[in-house]
Amino acid sequence: MRDAVQRPDDYQPFQGDQEDLALYGEELFYDDTLSTNGMSCATCHGGLSGYQATFADPYPHQVAMGLNQFGMEQVHLDEMIQICMVAPMAAEPLEWDSRELPALVAFMEQEQQRFQADPCAADPCAADPCAPCGVNPCAPCAANPCAANPCAANDPEPEARYAIASARAMPACSTGHSLQAADSR
Ligand code: HEC
Repeated sequence: MRDAVQRPDDYQPFQGDQEDLALYGEELFYDDTLSTNGMSCATCHGGLSGYQATFADPYPHQVAMGLNQFGMEQVHLDEMIQICMVAPMAAEPLEWDSRELPALVAFMEQEQQRFQADPCAADPCAADPCAPCGVNPCAPCAANPCAANPCAANDPEPEARYAIASARAMPACSTGHSLQAADSR
């Protein structure tokens, strides 16, 4: 798994006009044919949703999904995109020398800048959609961007958690971790 998402040794990022690449990357962001499960990046990340606070940090940095599911201490942005391709999108990673990968990188860099400008955008439920979300760090904000988050329905019944989990197709939810969370209530 890890080999599929980690930069190859001879990796040379595609060089091209960043504006053009970002426009193409935006198209790909909404393209559900990139996945095998009908999802696009925008299904989870539209309107800057679905990220934890780490997204605001310069790359490379540690991301919970990269560490927990792929054993990677740190990820570059292109590696993070490959992780989301392989895990939530249930697809093959993009070719490292493709135009698609740097296009998504260029667009996600723009999304990162918008995210950095919006301190309330971070989703405390992102890494583990099954985690109980009693405490909402977005509460002090006038408009609550977490309101549309299924996790924000504080502490749903276990069945509801599984429904949320399968709706988001997160394999991590079938581990003991979520059972534990349900049991500890
Ligand atoms: C089913 C939902 C889902 C889909 C679809 C999805 N992602 Fe993600 N993505 C996540 C989750 C959950 C996280 C948070 C992971 C974490 O913080 O551990 C995340 C995090 C990220 C991050 C930020 C990681 C960080 O903190 O630095 C980037 C960048 C990203 N995704 C890009 C993409 C791209 C590009 C696509 C489409 C190719 C995509 N994602 C599709 C669920 C998804």
